[in-house]
Amino acid sequence: MPITVPELYRKKAAGERITMLTAYDFPFAQMVDESGIDVILVGDSLGTVVQGLPTTLPVSMEEMLYHTTMVVRATKNALVVGDMPFLSYQTSVEEGIRNAGLFLKAGASAVKLEGGASVCDLIAALTRYDIPVMAHIGLTPQSVHRMGGFKVQGKGDAAAEKLMADARAVQEAGAFAVVLEGVPRDTAKRITAELSIPTIGIGAGPDCDGQVLVLYDLLGLFDRFVPKFVKRYANLKADAVKAISKYKKEVESGKFPTDKESFH
Ligand code: KIV
Repeated sequence: MPITVPELYRKKAAGERITMLTAYDFPFAQMVDESGIDVILVGDSLGTVVQGLPTTLPVSMEEMLYHTTMVVRATKNALVVGDMPFLSYQTSVEEGIRNAGLFLKAGASAVKLEGGASVCDLIAALTRYDIPVMAHIGLTPQSVHRMGGFKVQGKGDAAAEKLMADARAVQEAGAFAVVLEGVPRDTAKRITAELSIPTIGIGAGPDCDGQVLVLYDLLGLFDRFVPKFVKRYANLKADAVKAISKYKKEVESGKFPTDKESFH
């Protein structure tokens, strides 16, 4: 059964953990979907892990839609969420609605956007037009310059209260779930206990309703930096370099191709 927004509410109510991963193209989305992951996020993290950029800020709507169509084509069960890139929703509610709608036209079932109380007008408008919104608070990578780097947010009582208020605000505005990124474990636990919508943590400890990771971090495909919260479940970059080096040696030595790989 394909995963839907109501199914995610059911999972929270039943105390079942929600799983979410990023994917950016057909083969990886297929692998994530076949593994039974609930939610696939076409994250603007593709700016760093696919495009090799230092931040997500340059990623465009066109690029996000291009990747979304590939992911949608490969996905049979997971809920596909399109990540709204920087400047696709900050200029006006109207532009935010139009761009969110383009994700749904590309086949996504929901959109994600960064920000708390400051984006609640847009979350409310999208919800009014039946465009499901996943909010994203805490360490919001599009705010890298304000934060002075990719740093844990919500440390200290005042910052924790502000985070709590943002979480309440996005729920009130109609978000169906909220990503908590780079947030102290205790604060994430408090938010999760208070909200009726699911919280999805990344660097927010084990007490959230679900977890998300960047797929290339989990698979060991991206090694420019590895955040503390990442657990590597494979080392595919090393495996790929080994395989490619073997191919190079065999071509150079004449071991590949053989008669078996030839036509007659
Ligand atoms: O862009 C992304 O991949 C994200 C997740 C890390 C939550 O926003």
